Amino acid sequence: MKGVSNADLSTTVLGRKIKLSVMLAPVAAQRRYHLDGGAGAARAAAAAGTVYGVSGSIGNSVEEIAISSSGPKRFQLYVPKDRAVARDGVLRA
Ligand SMILES: Cc1cc2nc3c(=O)[nH]c(=O)nc-3n(C[C@H](O)[C@H](O)[C@H](O)COP(=O)(O)O)c2cc1C
Repeated sequence: MKGVSNADLSTTVLGRKIKLSVMLAPVAAQRRYHLDGGAGAARAAAAAGTVYGVSGSIGNSVEEIAISSSGPKRFQLYVPKDRAVARDGVLRA
């Protein structure tokens, strides 16, 4: 029964404040949906003031995602049997 014209949609995630209490979940192969793929989604999340969950199977490089926006991001990894490959993925992210 409160007014909603000035609703505060912010929350905190791991101690960091975000403007919108909805985050973008990791979704693989986003270039199937748009040429920019995850880079575009990362920019959209940043514009909305929320977290972009970067799929480990995104299709863009993590470096491309990193420079696409300064918004907060989380990296999701499907851990491969070869732990050296997993380590490399985490270090690059
Ligand atoms: C097309 C598609 C691709 C997805 N790819 C990934 C992925 O790469 N990694 C992952 O952890 N989850 C992936 N998910 C799962 C989503 O991140 C999310 O957990 C799931 O859609 C449930 O969230 P929801 O209840 O908000 O829909 C994918 C989901 C969909 C529909």
